[in-house]
Amino acid sequence: MDPSPIPYYPVNEFGPLMKGLVIGGVGILHVFLAQFAIGGGMLLYYFERLAQAGVPDTRKFVDGYFKVLVLVSFVVGALTGVAMWFTTIQVGARTIGIMLDEFHWLWATEWVWFAIEIVAGYAFYRFGPQLDDKTRRRLLLIYAGASWMSLFWINGILAWQLTPGGWLDGGGMWAGFFNPSFWPSLLFRTAVAATLGALVACVVINTMDLERAAKAALIRRASRFAAPMALMPVFAAWFMAVIPADSRQWLMGGSMPMTMFVGVAAAASTLIGGYVVVGLIVKKLYINGATATMLLALAFGATAAGEFVREGARKPYTVRGVLYSTSMTPDEVTQLRKDGAVTKDPYPLRDEARYPTAQLRHGAKVHRALCDACHTVHGANALVELTRTWTDDQMRLNVSKLQRTKGFMPPFAGNAADVEALVQFLRWETAGAPASWPISDTPETLAQIATWLDEVGTAPMGDAR
Ligand code: HEC
Repeated sequence: MDPSPIPYYPVNEFGPLMKGLVIGGVGILHVFLAQFAIGGGMLLYYFERLAQAGVPDTRKFVDGYFKVLVLVSFVVGALTGVAMWFTTIQVGARTIGIMLDEFHWLWATEWVWFAIEIVAGYAFYRFGPQLDDKTRRRLLLIYAGASWMSLFWINGILAWQLTPGGWLDGGGMWAGFFNPSFWPSLLFRTAVAATLGALVACVVINTMDLERAAKAALIRRASRFAAPMALMPVFAAWFMAVIPADSRQWLMGGSMPMTMFVGVAAAASTLIGGYVVVGLIVKKLYINGATATMLLALAFGATAAGEFVREGARKPYTVRGVLYSTSMTPDEVTQLRKDGAVTKDPYPLRDEARYPTAQLRHGAKVHRALCDACHTVHGANALVELTRTWTDDQMRLNVSKLQRTKGFMPPFAGNAADVEALVQFLRWETAGAPASWPISDTPETLAQIATWLDEVGTAPMGDAR
């Protein structure tokens, strides 16, 4: 047999945790910490300038606990960043490969800014108190600037996954980088970063050994940093306007879980924004440690919901129009309809001996190749539960016409025998994995499935952009 033109990478399974959940969990923590490290850096620079202008207690703030927090979140942010690559490479090696191919030097640029950020941040942390004013200011400016620049570069690459824009028409690397969602997501994330910096500062100021009036004065200054939050609805609306129409529809009612997450993110942000803008900036209220911590927890929830939405909006692609979440291109799906989904998949099943028949082994492989990226059998988004009430024929029809069953699933990338093996595998799992199971391969069944596959074709539901 010829080697497959489709590159197959070994993938990992995370048991009842769906792959997307594992990546999502690490990603949310990473985004939260990294965004705080950026906003915290900008806030440190602002407070350092205040200190040099003689504003009381600001120097104490800059050289105190807050600096340590920025450093810790920056280090843990960096570690979780590495963890992101470590998990994504086990799940979507091909996606990472395309990103590297396309943005090699931009990625290297991002890395250089990151290295500058590390050096400046560490130098300030280690030597800050001994340095003169000018050097302190410069170091903090370099730290804050470099950390924002690393966001600038990585943001372009991540936004390209959802809205490749002119890159799809051969516009090249820069068209891909400055894609339609580049600016709204960069501005949105910058506003989030500044807000996180302000909220953490409010918590830290409350722990400082100062009179209440002195704390209030510092809090008023810190909360100004959250003012860009007022523009977040504008950036969010801009983002919604440039994402593909089908994704937008899911976020606005088409998919209830996604719509709810949009709602959670919007509501939490409105609460924080309302408190900060009306309470702290306009009415100059005092915020105590507990309230600031609550707002920060809300911000974490909003970040988590927002990242879930951003990842979800990309389905069924990891690179819109180019690569499905199953690590296959649209052309390859057409090819696999003829060749069979797993004919050339070189990797054996982990638990081969579990399955009483070859058809069930086949079905397990089809599941691994075509469904496992977004489903598990029994755990998160469990196929056994989603299909439990369906009749066999209902399942055959819905799997054959997968992209019509839900628009955020890719077209089924296999033939009639693959569909039937998968259906039998899921039925067998639903029945509790009994020791024997009948083979199901009557010509009528396979012919019916083939008709359904032909009817639905291999075009995805949404447009390419
Ligand atoms: C790109 C991600 C993705 C892939 C790949 C994928 N699905 Fe789904 N699927 C989803 C999502 C998201 C849902 C919605 C779950 C919900 O509504 O709770 C879903 C829903 C379903 C449902 C329930 C549909 C309904 O209307 O109730 C079934 C059945 C299903 N998928 C089967 C499969 C099978 C079988 C495969 C592999 C051949 C597969 N899916 C591949 C993301 C995916």
